[in-house]
Amino acid sequence: MTAPILLLAPMQGITDSIFREALTQLGGIDTCVSVYARVSHLPLPAHSLLRICPEMATGGRTRHGTAVVLQLLGSDPSLMAETARRAVDAGAMGIDLNFGCPVSRVNRHDGGAALLEEPRRITRVIRAVRDAVPSSIALSAKVRAGWSRTDEAPAIAQAVEQGGAGWLTMHGRTRKQLYEGKADWEAIGKARRAVTIPVVANGDIRSVEDMTRCAEQTGCERFMIGRGALAKPELFRWLKGLSEVPWQPRHRLAWLVSYGDACVAKGLGERTVAGRAKAILRHMSEVNDCIYDIFIRQRQHDSWLELRQGILQDTSA
Ligand SMILES: Cc1cc2nc3c(=O)[nH]c(=O)nc-3n(C[C@H](O)[C@H](O)[C@H](O)COP(=O)(O)O)c2cc1C
Repeated sequence: MTAPILLLAPMQGITDSIFREALTQLGGIDTCVSVYARVSHLPLPAHSLLRICPEMATGGRTRHGTAVVLQLLGSDPSLMAETARRAVDAGAMGIDLNFGCPVSRVNRHDGGAALLEEPRRITRVIRAVRDAVPSSIALSAKVRAGWSRTDEAPAIAQAVEQGGAGWLTMHGRTRKQLYEGKADWEAIGKARRAVTIPVVANGDIRSVEDMTRCAEQTGCERFMIGRGALAKPELFRWLKGLSEVPWQPRHRLAWLVSYGDACVAKGLGERTVAGRAKAILRHMSEVNDCIYDIFIRQRQHDSWLELRQGILQDTSA
């Protein structure tokens, strides 16, 4: 397999610019996709877009040089087009359109995965955005493999291509599945074969073995990873061949402590940072018993200062 191209998945409430900074400094990530900016009744102003993707003001890259594209979520072609235009004026180097969000509240308002039921509408939104921004601006879409069945995947991928996107990411679950069951990598492979644009495979990649199997089943050379990187911050380095072995638990915890400190340094409150750190600790504890024990012992702390102290004490014990 040639060197894979690796993307950090957007995860609302987790992968903000502080997280992107902390993870991209480790290396291995080619592109980050921001969490979505939701476009509902009016085009969004530049300051809202910059809040979600401050890297737009610094050439569209993290401090470590990794490209960041802004994700937009919405279904009105003209509002999406105008918002994309403003994003480009504010410095966006790429725009990703979200047609995969399964949250009922979002879908009820005709956003995210709601459009999977009518792929022609996906084409229309992409076409409007493509026509609104210069051709030098990368345009992509993130979709699920279907609304209720993964055999919808090829038609969805074709709808994205027909709109003029340069690439697409497919999460191998349907909207109905939410996060249940397994990502259907075979379905992603069928979608890939139905289009000529590059397809990024997404869902359930947590190790080199997973990526190898995913590559075999999909034929993809590009992979997007979300939760696996919360459990193992070094995962991208590992998949790129920059590290030979997975990190020890103490290395993962040291990364978590420095990430928490970075959040505080950026002005986030002690409680907010403790909440974020515990969410990551929970993912780390799923793949490591010793971190699980630390999580159980320390999860009662609601302030980062106390949680940090507890983690450091447990790590040195
Ligand atoms: C907490 C959380 C928040 C998410 N937020 C977004 C989002 O803002 N935009 C998006 O396209 N996908 C979002 N996703 C979906 C992920 O990007 C990804 O498609 C999914 O987690 C499957 O990949 P994984 O198995 O590598 O985690 C989110 C997922 C999670 C768990």
